[in-house]
Amino acid sequence: MRMVLLGPPGAGKGTQAQVLSKDLNLPHVSTGDMLRDALKAQSPLGLKAKEYMEKGALVADEIVIALVSERLSKADAKKGFILDGFPRTAQQAESLDQSLNHLHMPLDVVLYFKTSVSVVIHRLSGRRVCGQCGKNYHLTNFKSKVEGVCDVCGGKLFQRPDDKEETIENRLKVYEEQTAPLIEYYEKKNILHEISGDLEVKQLNEILMRLFQRKGLMSAAV
Ligand code: AP5
Repeated sequence: MRMVLLGPPGAGKGTQAQVLSKDLNLPHVSTGDMLRDALKAQSPLGLKAKEYMEKGALVADEIVIALVSERLSKADAKKGFILDGFPRTAQQAESLDQSLNHLHMPLDVVLYFKTSVSVVIHRLSGRRVCGQCGKNYHLTNFKSKVEGVCDVCGGKLFQRPDDKEETIENRLKVYEEQTAPLIEYYEKKNILHEISGDLEVKQLNEILMRLFQRKGLMSAAV
C-alpha cells in the first residue's frame, strides 16, 4: 500500500503514521524527521535546511525531492510506504507522480486530515519531543509519566523550535498557500480521502483500518 498523509501542521499525521506503520508493517517516511536527523548530524544538508525550518518556511523542492527519491529506492519501500509531510508543493507532487509512474507503483490513497485551526494550535503549542529517541508527547493530550522525561528512554523532553507561537502562525500560512492546493490536485486524481484530524488517535486509526479494508488495500500490505 502506497499512501500519502496530507494535512496542516499538527493534524496528527506523524502520530497516526507511527501507528499505521506498525499495524501495516510499512515504512514511515517523514521528510520532517529526515531533515531534523540531518540537522542533528550537522550534515551540509541539515545546515542548509536549518534556517528554513526554524522560520517555518519550506526547504527547497530539489532538496526534499532528492531525499525522498533516495529513501523510496530502498528495498523496504518496494512493499509500500507511508509518506508524511511530502509532497508539500505542486512541484513535489508532480515529481512524486513521475517517479512512481516510472516504477509502475502509483499512489493508492491520499489521506487528507482535515483539522480545525484551534485543535492544530493547541496540539503544536503543547507538543514535546524526546531529544534522545524522538517520541512525541503533549502537555495535556499525551503526558509523560514524569514531567519533562521520556517514558521510553528517560531522555529529556523539549519543545521543537518551530512550535513556538510566532512560527506556528507562519507554518499555517505556508500550508494554506503552498500545500492546501494539493487537496484539489489529488481530488482530481480520485485518490483523495478526507477524514477528521480532530478525532482521537485510536478512533481515527479504526476508521482508517476500515477504509483500507473496504478499498481492498489490507491484504497487499499486511
Ligand atoms: P514536519 O515535521 O513535516 O512538520 P509538519 O507538517 O508541520 O507536521 P507536524 O510534525 O508539526 O505535525 P503532525 O501532523 O505530524 O502532528 P503530530 O502527529 O506530530 O516539517 C517540519 C519542517 O520541515 C517544515 O516546516 C519544513 O521547513 C521542513 N519540511 C518538511 N517536509 C518538507 C517538504 N516536503 N518540503 C519542504 N520542507 C519540508 O502531532 C502534533 C501533536 O499533537 C503531538 O504532541 C501529538 O502528541 C498530538 N496529537 C497527535 N494526534 C493527536 C490526536 N488525534 N489527538 C490528540 N492529540 C494528538
